[in-house]
Amino acid sequence: MLRMLILILVPVACLLPPGTGAGEIICGHEAKPHSRPYMAYLEIRQGNKRYTCGGFLVSKNFVLTAAHCNGDSITVLLGAHNINKQEQSQQWIRVCRPIPHWKYNRETLNNDIMLLQLERAVALNRNISVIPLPPSGQKVRPGTVCSVAGWGRTNSWNNETSPTLQEVDLKVQDNEACWNVPCLRPSYYNPLTMICAGDRHRCQNSFQGDSGGPLVCEGKAQGIVSWGSPFGIPPSVYTRVATFIPWIHEMMKRSQSGDHLGIGGQTSGVAQL
Ligand SMILES: *[C@@H]1O[C@H](CO)[C@@H](O)[C@H](O)[C@H]1NC(C)=O
Ligand SMILES: *[C@@H]1O[C@H](CO)[C@@H](O)[C@H](O)[C@H]1NC(C)=O
Repeated sequence: MLRMLILILVPVACLLPPGTGAGEIICGHEAKPHSRPYMAYLEIRQGNKRYTCGGFLVSKNFVLTAAHCNGDSITVLLGAHNINKQEQSQQWIRVCRPIPHWKYNRETLNNDIMLLQLERAVALNRNISVIPLPPSGQKVRPGTVCSVAGWGRTNSWNNETSPTLQEVDLKVQDNEACWNVPCLRPSYYNPLTMICAGDRHRCQNSFQGDSGGPLVCEGKAQGIVSWGSPFGIPPSVYTRVATFIPWIHEMMKRSQSGDHLGIGGQTSGVAQL
């Protein structure tokens, strides 16, 4: 609801808002339970509103997600398939420090990436594990078939929800395909920090509530669900993870060594919000 409000107030009407409830990917199918053990389900509180996002485990105590999924407090669910059930494999963990990229731009959605430091290290097992990140600067060739998963909305005409994890295959597109995503004028697509994926002639897409989840290409988390058409029409835009590898490593190193996260001139020890 909060994000719906923002949709009306801000000219960038194409942000994939975090979902207000569970749901699924568009034109996808249910994932085999626990076949994506890195998937995280995020519950975000912002004032008295609650919304949800996706994310993915990148180390025992860090989840990666989109910066637009930030709020007053975030709780992460790992090891889940059906978020409405109390599965034995599930672990709820509070986020002790959200670290949004200090150059995240709310208007253009540039640098839409955020690390979440978990309150404690998660116990890794068959149903909870880390996904590899790409080497710094690695390019994903257009035509590469990747996949995306999430508990977000399944369509644009109602709030239909499915509590189980959904997944869908998507083809990476030439940058041109995202320069004119329907409803974005001017387009804020930036090929240095974003990946364009999803064929406009098909229906397969990520959607509201999938934000923050990974675009997985050849076993690596190459993208983060970021924004797209408010009507769920492909292609959609994903944060280009390979661009942010030095930032990710630096932030993880700093917080592990207990340093203050005085990024971007801040020295107060408070992470940039
Ligand atoms: C993993 O999930 C499966 C299916 O829900 C369950 O049977 C198994 O006990 C889980 N293993 C762990 C270590 O959580
Ligand atoms: C979808 O949910 C939102 C927020 O809860 C609500 O305002 C809206 O009326 C719902 N739309 C439909 C079609 O159910």
